[in-house]
Amino acid sequence: MRNSIPSWLRVTLLFFLVFALMEYFIDSGEQPAFIAFPITQFFLLMVLLLLIAIELILKSIENIMYQTLTEEGKVRYEEAKSKPWEWAWGKRMYLKLLGSRPIEEEGEIILDHNYDGIKELDNRLPPWWVYMFYATIVFGLVYLVRFHIFDDYDQASEFEQEMELARAAVEEYKRTAKDLVDASTVELLTDASDLNAGETIFNTNCAVCHKTDGGGSIGPNLTDSYWILGGGIKNIFNTISEGGRDGKGMVAWKSSLKPSEIAQVASYVMGMEGTNPPDAKAPEGDLYVNPDAPAEGAEGDTDATEVEVIETDTPVMPEEAETGE
Ligand code: HEC
Repeated sequence: MRNSIPSWLRVTLLFFLVFALMEYFIDSGEQPAFIAFPITQFFLLMVLLLLIAIELILKSIENIMYQTLTEEGKVRYEEAKSKPWEWAWGKRMYLKLLGSRPIEEEGEIILDHNYDGIKELDNRLPPWWVYMFYATIVFGLVYLVRFHIFDDYDQASEFEQEMELARAAVEEYKRTAKDLVDASTVELLTDASDLNAGETIFNTNCAVCHKTDGGGSIGPNLTDSYWILGGGIKNIFNTISEGGRDGKGMVAWKSSLKPSEIAQVASYVMGMEGTNPPDAKAPEGDLYVNPDAPAEGAEGDTDATEVEVIETDTPVMPEEAETGE
């Protein structure tokens, strides 16, 4: 048996291979698997012992076989073993691709001119170079046909595709990182789960002052269209997050509620508008008209002209004023 790698190296390599495979396949989150699951340390120890045992067994088998050899056999075995290992196929391939002629044969390929003692050999092009050259020709043909004859995708559409993927990734990130919202980026949430969460937050934290139905007691009525501190999701988010005017009793909730929770409760509060609960407090503050409302009214029609926008604007105002009374 020809031994190319010393046994201690073989054991170490195999051990770390098993180790790496284990780390790769066991999903252990942030921590490496052998810390997250201590049982794997035991497993690794077993692997190590097993590898050493296999090495020892192989050694002793080799030893026994050696003892059974004749003297002549022993000599031949020693010889074979001491011969340095070489990768015969790799070496042959390397020489073939190099394609150079041995120095002894140079006489056959020398050209018969001679410039001040400088001679030239008529070597064949090295095969590795020739094959690569052929490969570029094939590549060029495929490229030509694909992009200049059949007009496959171009850089612009490739760019668009990548941007599309990136946008999807950003969406995904925003969806999972809801706490990134602040008063400037918050959007009205409409998912039932968000609104239910908002209701729970409202009933535990806010109902004492605003009443469960939002009609208001210590705090103002939240169900009308009049807002002291500004209506619309962004203002309401801001009020809840930063609190009301000093000394009025509405504290800043940003220290006890997460941004995502403030967005939920703000969306729930928005949903209360127009519910007209019994015994509600009189409206306080100013009528809030959503500056985005005209744009929303024209949303279905993307070609809306300026005139149309103004038209949708006018009927909204008196209507809202009526509900506010
Ligand atoms: C201790 C009583 C109290 C609690 C609890 C309280 N609020 Fe208020 N809230 C007030 C008062 C008082 C005001 C008026 C502040 C002002 O005039 O500056 C107010 C104002 C508001 C406003 C603005 C109303 C407007 O007209 O602009 C919103 C929105 C609001 N509260 C929502 C909430 C939410 C959501 C919670 C629960 C997370 C909450 N409040 C908890 C007392 C309270």
